Amino acid sequence: MKASKVYVTADIGSEAQERLSDAGFEVEVHPHIDPPTYEELTAKVAGGLDGLVTTIRDRIDDGLLAKAAAAGLKIVAQVAVGYDNIDVPSATRHGIPVANTPDVLSDATAEFAFFMMGDVARKLYPSEELVRSGRWGVWHPHHPWLGDNVAGKTVAVIGTGRIGKAFAHKCAGFDMDIVCYSRTRDEEFCARVQRVMDLRAELGFGRRRTIAYVTLEKALATADFVALHVPLIKSGPDATVHFMNEARLRQMKRTAYLVNTTRGPVVDEDALARVLLDGAIAGAALDVFAKEPLPMDSPLRDERLFLKLRLFNHLGSGTWETRLSPDPNVGMAGRAVQSVIDRLRGADPRQMAWVVNRTSLAGDSKP
Ligand code: NAP
Ligand code: GLV
Repeated sequence: MKASKVYVTADIGSEAQERLSDAGFEVEVHPHIDPPTYEELTAKVAGGLDGLVTTIRDRIDDGLLAKAAAAGLKIVAQVAVGYDNIDVPSATRHGIPVANTPDVLSDATAEFAFFMMGDVARKLYPSEELVRSGRWGVWHPHHPWLGDNVAGKTVAVIGTGRIGKAFAHKCAGFDMDIVCYSRTRDEEFCARVQRVMDLRAELGFGRRRTIAYVTLEKALATADFVALHVPLIKSGPDATVHFMNEARLRQMKRTAYLVNTTRGPVVDEDALARVLLDGAIAGAALDVFAKEPLPMDSPLRDERLFLKLRLFNHLGSGTWETRLSPDPNVGMAGRAVQSVIDRLRGADPRQMAWVVNRTSLAGDSKP
């Protein structure tokens, strides 16, 4: 029997890749740091693939999926939880299952968001830069600047899905009050976090803190930190493009900070630069951008924003174990290759836990 062919668009670690070859598949890994071009990827799928492992850098649109389906593609497995780069409705129409990597990255991304909050509020990067550049002239009680406490403040969790909840857990352990806003409310989750908060107070770890769902307006108006955890939804009634537009940014307190680890287009970057420049909010920390890598002419690079704005290279899930572990219960690489192995060994995609379009795929499509 001919071996199934799998193409991996980025090096996701030898151990995960070996799991594919050990399963008997013919595996090709894109050999460069830069992603394959759209044309290269289209030619690759048109040449006949059984499995395609993608990352957020790959545009998987209707044109590509039509060619892939015609050439027999049986699964797209994205090494990420977000899959806004993939036209999932088109994949469904073509009968192609699309898998992602939920849960295994929630803690890594949530703790990164948590650290971003501390970085921007306590001016960690400007402090290090001051020392490294040799411009630290004298110790002084408040020169050249001070930061803001994080512990004891109110944080808004916008989107209480997997990462939003993991982030809230961490904030509860940091003596923060939490206000939540999401499309649907998980009151049972709030009740469990409240019990942790109550126990902490009872044991003498600070005063009693609270967690509650509120309206978006109230979340923005009361929080000292606003952390975004909604997915990028490009169109329709629940679209999240420019979810944080200028009006919403201006609903935040002048002393508040914005933290974004979701997707760049969720924040209107031009508006954010404006509100930061005119002091309408205190600061922001961004791990994701509308265009990545961040263009050199982005208004976010304005030097006047140096003290208030922290910028990261989409590193939220970026730990060795989270990105590269071949174990499907630990790492994104492991979870993505597991979906490919299961599918190419005959699993019904409608029964596969990490297939995002499993409920809308028609009929059984065994390989
Ligand atoms: P998730 O479990 O699907 O959580 C998303 C949450 O947002 C859900 O609670 C959802 O509510 C809510 N939501 C969706 N649309 C909304 C809207 N219009 N208004 C209010 N709430 C809305 O996803 P996740 O696993 O937490 O991941 C979240 C996102 O983080 C991913 O999509 C990805 O873009 C990003 N991410 C980034 C990194 C990084 O490295 N920076 C790493 C991992 C993930 P419902 O439950 O009601 O649908
Ligand atoms: C990373 O950004 C992800 O969506 O997993």
